[in-house]
Amino acid sequence: MALLEVNHLKKIYTTRFGGAKVEALADVEFSVEKGEYVAIMGESGSGKTTLLNILAALDRPTGGKVLLDGTDMSAVPDSRMAAYRRDNLGFVFQDFNLLDTFSLKDNIFLPMVLARKDYKEMEERLKPLARKLEIGELLEKYPYEVSGGQKQRAAVARALITRPQILLADEPTGALDSRAADGLLGMFEEINKSGQTVFMVTHSIRAASHAGRVLFIKDGIIFHQLYRGDGSNEEMYQKISDTLTVLATGREEA
Ligand SMILES: Nc1ncnc2c1ncn2[C@@H]1O[C@H](COP(=O)(O)OP(=O)(O)OP(=O)(O)O)[C@@H](O)[C@H]1O
Ligand SMILES: [Mg+2]
Repeated sequence: MALLEVNHLKKIYTTRFGGAKVEALADVEFSVEKGEYVAIMGESGSGKTTLLNILAALDRPTGGKVLLDGTDMSAVPDSRMAAYRRDNLGFVFQDFNLLDTFSLKDNIFLPMVLARKDYKEMEERLKPLARKLEIGELLEKYPYEVSGGQKQRAAVARALITRPQILLADEPTGALDSRAADGLLGMFEEINKSGQTVFMVTHSIRAASHAGRVLFIKDGIIFHQLYRGDGSNEEMYQKISDTLTVLATGREEA
């Protein structure tokens, strides 16, 4: 059984004025196996954030289902949703979403505090994570005292400290310069190699080239996917960029 199964997912937004409808997701179908690293690409407005918000249980679909480890997320009652989300899902946002009045360490501990875990367990989980993400020396600092790349690594630690079944990321490198982005992507790769399932929305070919599989979304459906196979990141980059060229021009290059 796949870890994540997305079946005939549909999302229609109804605007306030005159009830005009926007079909953001028409019929989205895909699945993600445990341990995979999947990126999703698509033009602006193609429904990527809509999809991620539904996977994150921050929004409900108009139709279809999402199964996470066999559990139908739409069957989780609202009253249990916050706890379900905290126990099963980790998120990394484009703009970090760290609280400026908390040190990095307290930001990272936040989901554990909300889950009423004891302090000793939090410390034990933090140590190896901070080492892997190279923020061990920065934990007492506040977000405004560290760089964008360091903030994003703290945000990744916060997403991983609960040991989520899946890490969801919406443009995690969007606010980073290319060096910090490369650092973060290298870490995503390592985290994935150690067994963490990752699902990432991105505009960046470079970011997507680190994934094992890339889905392409357009007109509310997944219309294409690429597998890395044994290829390198460079080969994956070339495949993605060729695919995007074909999509943009509607024909293959000679
Ligand atoms: N709350 C909303 N109400 C109405 N329409 C919405 C709402 N949110 C998104 N949409 C529409 O749904 C479609 C998909 O939007 P979405 O934000 O998922 O796109 P995206 O792929 O994330 O784009 P971007 O790359 O620019 O972030 C767009 O046409 C958008 O205008
Ligand atoms: Mg978006």
